[in-house]
Amino acid sequence: MKLPRLFFGTNLKMYQTASETAAFLGELAQLTADLREEPIIRFVIPSFPSLPAAGAVERNGIRLGAQNMHWENAGQYTGEVSPLMLRDLGCIDLVEIGHSERRQLFGETSQQCNQKVLSALANGFTALLCVGETAAEKYYSISDETLAIQLKVGLADVSPAEIAAGRVWIAYEPVWAIGVNGKPAPPAYVQERHQRLRLLLRELYPGQCCSVPLLYGGSVNSENASAYIGLEDVDGLFVGRAAWNAPAFDALLRQVYAVWKEKGGSGPC
Ligand code: 13P
Repeated sequence: MKLPRLFFGTNLKMYQTASETAAFLGELAQLTADLREEPIIRFVIPSFPSLPAAGAVERNGIRLGAQNMHWENAGQYTGEVSPLMLRDLGCIDLVEIGHSERRQLFGETSQQCNQKVLSALANGFTALLCVGETAAEKYYSISDETLAIQLKVGLADVSPAEIAAGRVWIAYEPVWAIGVNGKPAPPAYVQERHQRLRLLLRELYPGQCCSVPLLYGGSVNSENASAYIGLEDVDGLFVGRAAWNAPAFDALLRQVYAVWKEKGGSGPC
C-alpha cells in the first residue's frame, strides 16, 4: 500500500507580516490553482498574527497551519495560544509541533510535544510532529536513538484510530541541516533515517503506518529537492527559505511533483 498523495509545504517561521502573508498566499493560490485536483497536499504555516489575514484569502485548497500551540484550552500561560483560540479562527487545518527551533531555542521537551499532539488531535487538527537530531547527537551516532525517543514520546497515547485517520504527519528535520547555517543532509543519510522512522511507526502502529506521511525538511532547495523526494521513504517536503515567495514555492512544487510521479508515488509502507 502507498500513501496516495504528495505533501509539500512551507514554514514561514518569524517572517512576513500579516499583509505580506496574505499577498504571498493569494499569489500562491493563483499560481498553483491547476494543481488543486492533483494528489498533492499543499500547506503554508504562517506566524500567529498572520493567521486571520491568511484565513481570509481564497486559498484554492492550500491548507493553513499554526506554528505552535499550548495544550490547555485556557489558563494562566502568558504569551501562549490555545487550541480554542485557533479553532475559533475557523481556518486552521494543522498544528506544527516540536520544530527544532522550539526545542533548541525555547526548551520544548518531547513530553510537552506529546501533550500538544494529543491536544491538537482532540481539537480536530492534524498534528505535524517535527523530529530531528542535533549535530552532537549525529557525531555520537545516536541519531536513531534520538529520533526514536522523540517519536515514541511525542506519539505516546495517540490511538491507532487517530493514526489511521491520517491526522498525524511526521517531519524529519535534522537540526544541523536547518536554516542559513545549515548543511544539506546527504540523501542516503535521509533515506536511512526515514526508513528507521517508518519501521518504528510500523512497530508502534501495526498495519497503520501507511497513514503517516514522512516529510523531510532542512535546507531543501531546487538543487537538492529532486534527490530528496526521489527517496523511497520520503513522502513530502517541508521547506523553509526556498519557498518563501510564491513563484519559488510553485516552481519547487512542480519540480518535486514530477519526480514524485516518476517514482510511482509515496511509500512503500
Ligand atoms: P530551511 O529550509 O530554511 O532550512 O528551513 C526548514 C524548516 O525549518 C522547515 O520547518
